[in-house]
Amino acid sequence: MCGIVCYNGKKSAVEVILNGLKSLEYRGYDSSGISVVTDKIETLKRKGKLKNLIDEIDKIDNNANIGIGHIRWATHGEPNEINAHPQVSQDGKFSVVHNGIIENYRELKSELEDEGYNFKSTTDTEVVVALISHYYTDDLLEAVKKAIARLKGAYALGIISEYEKDKLIAVRNESPLILAKCDDGIILASDIPSVLKYTKDVVYLENGDIVEIDKDSYTIYDKNFEKVDRDIKKINMTLEQASKGGFEHFMLKEIYEQPEVVKKTLEVNLKENKIDFSDNSIDQDKLKSIDKVYIVACGTAFHAGEVGKVAIEKLAKIPVITDIASEFRYNDPFIDENTLVILISQSGETADTLAALRESKKKKATVLAVTNVVGSSIAREADKVIYTLAGPEIAVASTKAYISQLVTVIMLALDFAKKLDKIDDETYSNYIAELKTIPGKISEVLKSESTVKEIAKAIKDDSSMFFIGRGLDFLSVKEGALKLKEISYIHTEAFPAGELKHGSIALIEKNTPALSVITQSKLAEKTISNVQELVTRGAKIFTITVEGNENMADFSEKIVFVPKTLEMLYPILSVIPEQLLGYYTSLEKGLDVDKPRNLAKSVTVE
Ligand code: AGP
Ligand code: GLU
Repeated sequence: MCGIVCYNGKKSAVEVILNGLKSLEYRGYDSSGISVVTDKIETLKRKGKLKNLIDEIDKIDNNANIGIGHIRWATHGEPNEINAHPQVSQDGKFSVVHNGIIENYRELKSELEDEGYNFKSTTDTEVVVALISHYYTDDLLEAVKKAIARLKGAYALGIISEYEKDKLIAVRNESPLILAKCDDGIILASDIPSVLKYTKDVVYLENGDIVEIDKDSYTIYDKNFEKVDRDIKKINMTLEQASKGGFEHFMLKEIYEQPEVVKKTLEVNLKENKIDFSDNSIDQDKLKSIDKVYIVACGTAFHAGEVGKVAIEKLAKIPVITDIASEFRYNDPFIDENTLVILISQSGETADTLAALRESKKKKATVLAVTNVVGSSIAREADKVIYTLAGPEIAVASTKAYISQLVTVIMLALDFAKKLDKIDDETYSNYIAELKTIPGKISEVLKSESTVKEIAKAIKDDSSMFFIGRGLDFLSVKEGALKLKEISYIHTEAFPAGELKHGSIALIEKNTPALSVITQSKLAEKTISNVQELVTRGAKIFTITVEGNENMADFSEKIVFVPKTLEMLYPILSVIPEQLLGYYTSLEKGLDVDKPRNLAKSVTVE
């Protein structure tokens, strides 16, 4: 999540806002900007590093006392100066910063264009300032109320206008927003680190709240536009703690963000309970000409791709080949104009995956990218791009981006299945309905944290560990093994449960740790037999399985249950305890969870 920082008071708005934006820098962003009110609105925006804005900050009045600022993580519209925030109305009289996603921006945009509004940017945010400008007569607060009544989605907004030079208005809906009360003014910010330098007194605004700040006094209206008092709370965390949302590490914060990430991925890509990637997916005619699909990626993204293979084959009945990007481009793959190559990459900059993209395009394949970074190299060079909406992922070990990739590729499989008429309405609707329960089910699984901590204590001194499963459970343990390996440095191997007896079982001895994932009903008995083979040779077994499968406690030292769901969706749930296991084992060993040795967040070399 990037963020907004707004100020109204006696200090320099630029000073307070820049201080706030600097505290958000570590989160990853692609552009930034500030508007201040003097006798008019003055705005400065720059692509890239915050330094680019700071270096030219004298281009706006640094003595102004009211302003709004933004550090952007693009979701709609390439990262560039025009799309950077603040977004200013076409008449230059209103300026808005926004954190979040306006889901219905397309229809609002075409409505306003029909009325003659000329949009400058390709962002969703610009519809907000256009609506405020459209509704304004002589009262900014009233215009804001009318505008936000039209919006669907998540938004934390900061709004200023030349018509009411002493006013700053802010709105909170879903995206976080706090009001910080300082001796000489009020700050509205997306999170606590932005305000800590000036005050520890904050108000946590609630969904639907609108705040009107006039110099150093403020009024809060709730979602029914009734005046309301919100308690002022004292912040009792350091800047370091606050920047991780109170969590000890970014990785744990990002694991706990996963219910929200899935919720947002569903909200943006579902319209009236139908999957709608708009023109970012492959259209029906093109799809009908595709005779083969490749899914190509690296690391965790590759693991998401393997689940995508099962989903596309099972639901859309198209054969899928998965390949590691660094292998793909040297395998002389069988691809041509009838091949669809799906590339998955959180960063959108992984050299191996980018090279695979270029190889695919050279061979005339259609390339669809699934990436978390708007405007990344892979996004720019693909024919189509679907953005995962996980927000900036800071920890090197990928968690929330992986979950967002899983949900996206499963929704893509359903989209393809529907377009190719391979799925009946009831099955399709069941999947959509069940996907909507997943955020809550992830929250349920997160409650197993204490059991996972016990497993971490039990394995922390082991030098190796096996992860076993069958079918989709095998794909889940591949990701689980990587999570543990890359941040606890314990050597792990993921195995199809039925494969161990073909050699590797020779490594099993007393107390060799093994984690089994058993969620696939048709394969459970077989996997249990394989687990028994390990138990008889002295292995200590930990199991992740579906609630109700109490019989597995007989052979498991510890057992973590996940809620029932559709078989295809279990990898989304079974990976959560595996992520937590990697995290808590690394913690037990006193290692650098967020920045493990030898690793980079984005591997831009081959
Ligand atoms: C994931 O935990 C790893 N950090 C790594 O495997 C990563 O998934 C891989 O390097 C691919 O990165 P990308 O998704 O940015 O392309
Ligand atoms: N959706 C808006 C955009 O893409 C805001 C993104 C953000 O929260 O930084 O410009």
